[in-house]
Amino acid sequence: MLVFTLILVGAVGLILGASLYFLRYLAQGRRLFFARIAIAAFDIVGIGSLLLFIRSAFMHGWGAATALLVMLLFVAQIITLLVTACAAALRYLRRRMLSAPYDPARRRLLAGAAAYPAAGLLLGGYGAFFERRHTVRSDYTIPVPRLPHEAEGMVVAQISDVHLGPYFSVADFEALLTEVGASGADLLAVTGDIFDDERQNEAAAEVLAAHAADYPDGIWYCIGNHEYYHDGRRIVDRMAHEGRVRVVLNSAAQVPGRGVYIAGVDYPFGRGNDFYLQKEAFFAAAMSEVPADALTVLLAHHPEFIDDAAADGRVPLTLTGHTHGSQFGVFGRPLFPVFKYTRGMVRIGDNYGYVHTGNGSWFPLRIGCPPEIAYFRLERNAEQ
Ligand SMILES: [Fe+2]
Repeated sequence: MLVFTLILVGAVGLILGASLYFLRYLAQGRRLFFARIAIAAFDIVGIGSLLLFIRSAFMHGWGAATALLVMLLFVAQIITLLVTACAAALRYLRRRMLSAPYDPARRRLLAGAAAYPAAGLLLGGYGAFFERRHTVRSDYTIPVPRLPHEAEGMVVAQISDVHLGPYFSVADFEALLTEVGASGADLLAVTGDIFDDERQNEAAAEVLAAHAADYPDGIWYCIGNHEYYHDGRRIVDRMAHEGRVRVVLNSAAQVPGRGVYIAGVDYPFGRGNDFYLQKEAFFAAAMSEVPADALTVLLAHHPEFIDDAAADGRVPLTLTGHTHGSQFGVFGRPLFPVFKYTRGMVRIGDNYGYVHTGNGSWFPLRIGCPPEIAYFRLERNAEQ
């Protein structure tokens, strides 16, 4: 957590420094002076208090609304900084190419300077109030060699990373489950980071279990890291005990009447080599319950389980989450591909792995990376 906070503080410092520098292209004189004071005060006081209060008791009601506004303004600041830097660089290159003679009196201000912060605010507002609230549908067909006939055409729906909390309520969860429940999918896979709020976990678990009847092959659940932070593990254990939602935690079970298995793994918290050792052990434990000649769909919160699945040979499809697709994207690609697999479909040989963009988040902005419900139709691969 300390490392994460230090990285965050360092990043905010860098963004502040660059913003103070590039403001010279958007304002001059007294305006420039006051704009710099305002940006510095916002980044130090606004973002500073956000880092202190995020995930605290203040993060509900007005506290959450204020935090959302601060995050929106910060994203708007970053977008403004990026477009300003690009415009200044482009103008510099154009002048160099045209070999414009050096003129110290030349205006530094960019033409239409007010449009840059306006664009930042518009995009930020879109990300906070529109895209984040509009779930898209993603459809995939997965060709599976040796797929049992009973599983031909089976549709698995996936939701992930709901992050119950100030920006995703039980009512939002109910609406999401109603939408996916009406889709006609055969099975719902939930890949963790759902129960993330002590105030809402209990009610949400009840809502989830009540929707089990929407799927002929049931709801299957694997745990995420956030279930360990806000009493979610207790909820998951109780769900496993009750049995209305099938919890797969380093375990697997056959889907009745389908011939295929669903396996699920725990979240590996280890660092460095420990991460890989844990991952290997969790995967081996889950797969020990799958016969050598059977096929399974693996549910794993962390996307790097895609590698273990591809190496095994019994896992044609792995469904993961955790990354939220980096929440910002361009043309369907993640803007911050900080994980080995950050967003979308990965194919390794005959094996497919999917990294879901998530349905909610503790950071309430998305641009170019909407929340999704993903559907995977299993089809027998005739060539095999
Ligand atoms: Fe998450």
